[in-house]
Amino acid sequence: MISKKNRIAGEFALSEQAVVFHGDCLDLLEDIPDKSLQLIVTSPPYNIGKEYEKRTHLDVYLRQQAEVIAECARVLSPKGSICWQVGNYVDNGAIIPLDTVLYPIFAGLGLRMRNRIIWHFEHGLHCARRFSGRYETIIWFTKSDDYIFNLDAVRVPQKYPGKKYFKGPKTGQYSCNPLGKNPGDLWVIPNVKSNHVEKTGHPCQFPVELIERLVLSMTEPGDWVLDPFLGTGTSIIAAVRHERRGAGAEIQSKYVALSRQRIEQEMAGTLQTRPMTRPVYDPIEAGNSLTIAPWTKSDSKAQMVLLEKAERKQRYSVK
Ligand SMILES: C[S@@+](CC[C@H](N)C(=O)[O-])C[C@H]1O[C@@H](n2cnc3c(N)ncnc32)[C@H](O)[C@@H]1O
Repeated sequence: MISKKNRIAGEFALSEQAVVFHGDCLDLLEDIPDKSLQLIVTSPPYNIGKEYEKRTHLDVYLRQQAEVIAECARVLSPKGSICWQVGNYVDNGAIIPLDTVLYPIFAGLGLRMRNRIIWHFEHGLHCARRFSGRYETIIWFTKSDDYIFNLDAVRVPQKYPGKKYFKGPKTGQYSCNPLGKNPGDLWVIPNVKSNHVEKTGHPCQFPVELIERLVLSMTEPGDWVLDPFLGTGTSIIAAVRHERRGAGAEIQSKYVALSRQRIEQEMAGTLQTRPMTRPVYDPIEAGNSLTIAPWTKSDSKAQMVLLEKAERKQRYSVK
């Protein structure tokens, strides 16, 4: 366990609780001892021309990523995990899923892939010449086969908690795990867009709840969590919230200031975030009047979701 100091250091030291390094992540990594961190989680620049990145040729981008990933593998503890959250590289409308081209770098370092988590969200750019992108992936690697994975800490409610065995020696007993079910590898978590309570001026923040799930399942209290591309400090926030230690590097001063401010708020207990356990808002369930298109009658069956819900009440039939 760690004694809370509520201090944010600028340089890495194992005795700290939170470290926000202003500069290139390779310079921060240089100061971190071998095999000392339990979880490395990040969303690197995607090389798609966001305001904080210079677009480079994909080969150059991958070489830069390889250098950072090799350093991350060096500082990772033998029971540790690396989670790299990525989307697509877009080249003149054609997409290259970055996880597919990054995979050989991780595998080449001897890291072992445990999951390719699909993070599905509802908001983003509307594409006209392909289907709009509504997921990104988190590729999870471990350094060895003996790794920390605390499933019970992140179980989610069962769909049918009241279900019982109907035959066999356990007849009548509840068939599910009372602690909840494994969340699976498809995570539906709102992304941080306009109305999200965590929204800052940064164009692509992690929702805190996404990182909380990784921190709780892949680390123990007191462990170190590193985000080499820190942005708004989300990974450190999730770490300190659960009595872990967090470090990160950020190259842009405005985001260093923002991440420090958010981590301070977290330490003071004033940072507003979306709770991990809150179900995703369903405007139809919530009775939002905007779900009825004004150009249709309110009882119109034109909207497929409403149609499905209405039909559930009837029996399906063969015509
Ligand atoms: C995709 S964003 C990460 C956002 C972050 N996940 C969050 O929750 O706010 C990538 C960040 O990496 C920063 N960055 C880019 N190159 C960097 C480097 N070499 N070292 C450290 N930070 C860098 C960018 O300024 C940007 O804020």
